[in-house]
Amino acid sequence: MKKFLAVLLAVLMVFAVCSCEKKVEEQQSENEETEAVADNPEETAEEADAGEDAGEDAGEDAGEDAGETESTTITMATNAYFKPYEYYEGDKIVGIDAEIAEEIAKKLGKELVIEDMEFSTIITAVQEGSVDFGMAGMTVTEERKESVDFSSSYANGVQSIIVKEDSPITSVDDLYADGASFKVGVQLGTTGDIYSTDDFGEDNVIQYSKGNEAVLALVGGSVDCVIIDDEPAKALVAENEGLKILDTSYADEDYAICVAKGNGELLADINAAIDELTLDGTIDAIVAKYIK
Ligand code: ARG
Repeated sequence: MKKFLAVLLAVLMVFAVCSCEKKVEEQQSENEETEAVADNPEETAEEADAGEDAGEDAGEDAGEDAGETESTTITMATNAYFKPYEYYEGDKIVGIDAEIAEEIAKKLGKELVIEDMEFSTIITAVQEGSVDFGMAGMTVTEERKESVDFSSSYANGVQSIIVKEDSPITSVDDLYADGASFKVGVQLGTTGDIYSTDDFGEDNVIQYSKGNEAVLALVGGSVDCVIIDDEPAKALVAENEGLKILDTSYADEDYAICVAKGNGELLADINAAIDELTLDGTIDAIVAKYIK
């Protein structure tokens, strides 16, 4: 009986030791996996690139050790009906902003993705974080600065006035003249819209989703003039007969990129890229390609 008990005890001890070792092994291999991912964040990024599922798994495995997997893309919101800053060539968005953004993305080591949307929704998209930045020939204004942060300026813009060649409006002063009540066409949410609504009242301003729709309204006679940025104005006048741009401008402005408030790191990276691209002449060369 004693002998039987001794054997039983020995068998039990062997079992206990075995299962203990197994647990240690499992634990170790789990740790190794975690470390492998944590040590090699690049691999995680590549996996994420390979497909969304893989990316999610890698991210989860890495857990707190590796932090969140950094995205390999950077998304820009724009409104691609604004030649020569952003417009479609076939199904590709090209233009000054698109090319400068491409160079900035390169400097940040990211692949640029461009999302085309209504101009009036860009700032909200940036605020909500559904995109990383907005770039759309966007004017820096005090009001917008309350919602987003702006980079240093990379271009100047001028609000111009387009009229029919035989228009009674001959200068910007005619719009302000006593008793004048001209209908002004604008693109919704632009500074042309905001300023002219302030100056001439809501009833005299008609908002269109795109600049060219405002110009078509001018051609068709439902508005008396269109207030829009000078370069797009030139492009639109070239594309439509019987129109001209008044010599006097309506407003002078600076264009910049906007990012969500509190995104100081991205803003600093974008500003550093703009500085470099200005100094080495890249921005000038891009602008010269589109504006002769
Ligand atoms: N500069 C003007 C603004 O900021 C008009 C910009 C319109 N841009 C565009 N991509 N449609 O309001």
